[in-house]
Amino acid sequence: LTPPLPGPGTLPATSATPSDRAATPRHYLMCPPVHFDVVYAINPWMDVSVPVDAGHAVVQWQALKAAYESRGHRVDVIRPEPGLPDMVYAANGGVVVGGRALAARFTHPERQPEGAAYEAWLRTTGADHGLQSLGQAAELNEGEGDLLWDGEVLLAGTGFRTSRAAHAEASVRLDVDVVTLELVDPRFYHLDTALAVLSTGTRGDGGTHDGGTRPEIAYFPEAFTPASRAVLRERYPDAIEATEDDAAVLGLNAVSDGRHVFLSDRATGMHAALRERGFDPVGVDLSELLKGGGSVKCCTLELRAAQPSSTEPKEAR
Ligand code: ARG
Repeated sequence: LTPPLPGPGTLPATSATPSDRAATPRHYLMCPPVHFDVVYAINPWMDVSVPVDAGHAVVQWQALKAAYESRGHRVDVIRPEPGLPDMVYAANGGVVVGGRALAARFTHPERQPEGAAYEAWLRTTGADHGLQSLGQAAELNEGEGDLLWDGEVLLAGTGFRTSRAAHAEASVRLDVDVVTLELVDPRFYHLDTALAVLSTGTRGDGGTHDGGTRPEIAYFPEAFTPASRAVLRERYPDAIEATEDDAAVLGLNAVSDGRHVFLSDRATGMHAALRERGFDPVGVDLSELLKGGGSVKCCTLELRAAQPSSTEPKEAR
């Protein structure tokens, strides 16, 4: 693959200002791809005639896990189940906000047993970590594949997998505001293939951003209906708008800790755009897992603890 040349408005990496962005320690759940394969096709990335090397997928996955751990993040691992080749895409297993964990209910029969597997982990080991399990969603809900927390609202994708009814259910059960976004391009069938949360916002005292910060995102506008694009432009006027080249290597399928942004090493335009804004992009090669239609974010379910009261010191790590 030849990386695209930087566009006319793109600053070279060297002109980026040194980052004063702060990373905050995160807790992730991942599933090793020991049983990874492409034996059915439920998105346009999957081609059952292309061979898959699960051993190579495991090596690449371990490098992603190590990249998180070397930057101070905690990674828990769920046991992979034979016969569930997509279980590696842990982001789809549920959504966890404020310590409340809602497990997924998958659209396609091939993946449906994963919902129970992730529900069991969240109810047992998750509870040991202080999470409150809400069980499995009643509506079609593919977890963080379609439900992305920006620190203030849950951005909720629909059109291919997660239903609008699931957005309403998540709003009630997680006690959060939801912003529905409609996806239109089958290559970007989950919200996390078309949009990345780069930093979470904090509202200031009056419930506004005075004294707080706005959430920051990157997205590929063409993946959304015109109405949803308008919603995104209005909410995030300063968002990074990704190019088709970056979106087409799943460069938006990224994980951010507020400073480091873990993403495909092929998304060179995104790397430059992130550096311009003071983020530290961390390139990862997940070429095997791309054959299933997933990248960095797909492999990563964030476990967000209940917020400690603001007077308590941060948990020592
Ligand atoms: N093969 C999986 C599917 O189509 C890939 C899931 C990717 N995960 C994600 N968070 N987008 O369901």
